[in-house]
Amino acid sequence: MFKNLILSLLMTNILFANTQEVNIYSHRHYDTDKQLYKMFEKKTGIKVNIVKATANELIKRLESEGKNSPADILITSDVARLYLAQSKGLLQKVDSKILEEIVPINLRHKDGYWFALTKRARVIVYNIDNVDPSTITTYDSLTKPEFKGKVLMRNSSNIYNQSLLASMIANFGKEKAKQWAQGMVDNFARNPRGNDIDQMKAVAAGLGDVAVVNTYYLGKLLSSRKFSEVAVGKKMGIVFPNQKTNGTHVNISGAGVVKYSQNKENAVKLIEFLVSNEAQSMFAQANYEYPINKNVEPAKVIKAWGTFKEDSLALDELGVYNERAVRIFNEVHWK
Ligand SMILES: [Fe+2]
Repeated sequence: MFKNLILSLLMTNILFANTQEVNIYSHRHYDTDKQLYKMFEKKTGIKVNIVKATANELIKRLESEGKNSPADILITSDVARLYLAQSKGLLQKVDSKILEEIVPINLRHKDGYWFALTKRARVIVYNIDNVDPSTITTYDSLTKPEFKGKVLMRNSSNIYNQSLLASMIANFGKEKAKQWAQGMVDNFARNPRGNDIDQMKAVAAGLGDVAVVNTYYLGKLLSSRKFSEVAVGKKMGIVFPNQKTNGTHVNISGAGVVKYSQNKENAVKLIEFLVSNEAQSMFAQANYEYPINKNVEPAKVIKAWGTFKEDSLALDELGVYNERAVRIFNEVHWK
């Protein structure tokens, strides 16, 4: 009898140990993340399962799964999608001293619905052989006649561009934002295609002279093992726009705990791990993003660009104006 009791207790323990898991729906597309989840598994014994898709697909999936969703955490590479998920009631509040201490107040939802994991700036790059950088001070500079046929941009379904335009709507109004988008389209070197890296490759190849890209992509090129990619990176000059006005547009990748999470404790533990010194230095050193943890420095290649004035717009605003930004892109035929 006593033996049986011990045995069943043991079995329960084993079962419980085996069911410790956390399920992530993620739109982040970087190898670093996989390594971080492995580190977390080793440390805690909690198994990390990942479903990867675009943020829109993941949000739709969360909506249709409702209470039956296996997801515990939603991770996106843009705050506007976290905003959308929260406004659809798909996330829940998290109360964590660790997260509140580490994540600066402007980089998390005020009630704990989401927290930034990393930060990135959307900057202007130019071909150092062809462009005098003193001609570029703002995002607006790219709409000047001298850049006609020289501007390379990815398409407008890309959330990074949508959030950049949303920041302009919030800061300067929709008319000014539309003028900018129209001015950019008028100066395009080609129809938008490819990702941020492709724009820089095109700049280096002389298909155009300027592009707008996220900082970590330039960091990746400059640190690449491929000579050809380093060569592309070295052709790029970098401008942090709007330093004399509102500051350069920044965005985050971030995480929120899903409303019907079955493993909330594990989910919070994982997010806390992702903002720890250890994980943050991986984000910084291996993916060239700006850490949000002040104890951690950016990678050398990023640090070399110096500090810059960031747009202080509340990140939620990028979500608030997302739909309007998409509408403007359609109106000006930015593909
Ligand atoms: Fe990206």
